[in-house]
Amino acid sequence: MSNETQLFSPFSIRSVTLPNRIVLSPLCMYSANSGMASSWQFAHLSTFARGGVGLVFAEATAIEPRGRITPRCLGIWTDEQAEALKPTTEFIASMGSVPGLQIAHAGRKASAAPPWAGGVPLEIGDTAWGDPGWQTVAPSAVPLADGWQAPHALSEVEIAETVEAFAASARRALVAGFKVLEIHGAHGYLIHSFLSSLSNQRNDAYGGDLAGRMRFALEVTDAVRAAWPEELPLFFRLSAVDGHGWEIEDSIALAAALKARGVDVVDCSAGGITGAPAFRAQDDGKPLPKSGQRPLGFQVPYAAAIREKADIPTMAVGRIVDPQQAEDIVVAGSADLIAIGRELMHDPFWALHAAEALDQPDAFALWPDQYRWAIVRRAELGQYERT
Ligand SMILES: Cc1cc2nc3c(=O)[nH]c(=O)nc-3n(C[C@H](O)[C@H](O)[C@H](O)COP(=O)(O)O)c2cc1C
Repeated sequence: MSNETQLFSPFSIRSVTLPNRIVLSPLCMYSANSGMASSWQFAHLSTFARGGVGLVFAEATAIEPRGRITPRCLGIWTDEQAEALKPTTEFIASMGSVPGLQIAHAGRKASAAPPWAGGVPLEIGDTAWGDPGWQTVAPSAVPLADGWQAPHALSEVEIAETVEAFAASARRALVAGFKVLEIHGAHGYLIHSFLSSLSNQRNDAYGGDLAGRMRFALEVTDAVRAAWPEELPLFFRLSAVDGHGWEIEDSIALAAALKARGVDVVDCSAGGITGAPAFRAQDDGKPLPKSGQRPLGFQVPYAAAIREKADIPTMAVGRIVDPQQAEDIVVAGSADLIAIGRELMHDPFWALHAAEALDQPDAFALWPDQYRWAIVRRAELGQYERT
C-alpha cells in the first residue's frame, strides 16, 4: 500500500512552489576562479536537480572579494559572475526544481585554504590558491583563533558599503535566474560575528546589547528584502546556538525580527563562531560530541523551537540521512523543509530513492524523462536483482 508523504508534498512561499520539501543545503565547492563559476558548479548543482531535489541551493556566494572563504570560492560581486550562473539556474528550473542562492560574507574566517588543504589561514599576498590572500574584516579586531589574522574592524561607513553590497548581490542573483535567496547569517561568518559578543566587542550602534549586535543582520535583511522582488522568497540561515553566549532565546528574538522584515524561512544550523565546534545540545544542555559523532538530526530541536516560538516556517539541517527520519520531522511539525548536505553528496539521487523507500505513490514521477522510461521498465521487469 502506498501513502502520500509529507516529504513529497509541495510547499508554497510567496509566488514560488517547491515540488517537495527536500533541499540541497548550500555546499562550498572551492572550484570557482576569481569568483566565477566553473563547469564544476554546473555539473554539481545540475545533478541534484536531475535527482528530484525540490530546492537546489548554490553554495555560499561572496558579495565582495574579501567575503570569500578561500580564493576559490564563488562570488556574485560582478555582473559577469551572475551571467556565468545562468546556465545552471536554467537547467535546474528545466528539471522542475527551484534554484536558490546563498549570499555570504566570510568576515574573519576569510582568506583561507580549501578544507582538503587543511583550511588553514592564508597570509596576505599568498598566491598558493590563485588570488592572493587578503586582509580580513570583522566587527572587531578579534582573530578567529591562534594563527589567524587580526581582522580589520569595519567602520560605520564600511558597514553601510557592505550592506549595499549584499543588496547589489541580491539584484544580480535575480538576473542570474535564482528564485530563492538565502542570507548566510550562521557559522561564524561576518553576520554571525556581529551577533556574537565573543567576536563583536564594539561600543557603537552595532555592538553591545542584543539589539545592537542584531543591527547589522537586520540592516542587511532590510536592504536585501528591498532589492529582492516582493514575490520571491527570502531565507535566513542562522546558528541557533553557538556555545559561546548566543542561545536559542536570542535566535527566537532574531527570527521574530526577521519575520517582521519579510524573511520567509529560517534555516536552523548551529555553531562555527570559533575554530573549534563547541555548541550545546538543545535538550539536555550537555556538550555535543565532536563533529562526526553528533546524533542524527541533532539540530532539529532548534528548528522546532524557532518555528513554534517565532511562528515562522523553518528548515532543519544536520545529519538528516534517512527518508523516514526526514518524513517524521515534517510530520511532527518540527520543520517545513529538510536541508541535506553530505548525504546528498553521497547519493545525489537520494530524493528519488527516498520516494521509493517511503512508498510514495508514483514514486518514479520525479525521474527525468530521459531516465524514467528505462527505470520504470527495469522495475517492471524485476531487474533490480544482480544475479
Ligand atoms: C563540503 C561542505 C560545504 C559546505 N558549505 C556550506 C555553505 O556554503 N554554506 C553553509 O551555510 N553551510 C555549508 N556547509 C554546511 C552544510 O550546508 C550543512 O549545514 C551541514 O553539512 C550539515 O548538514 P549534513 O549533515 O546534511 O551534511 C557545508 C558543509 C559541507 C560538508
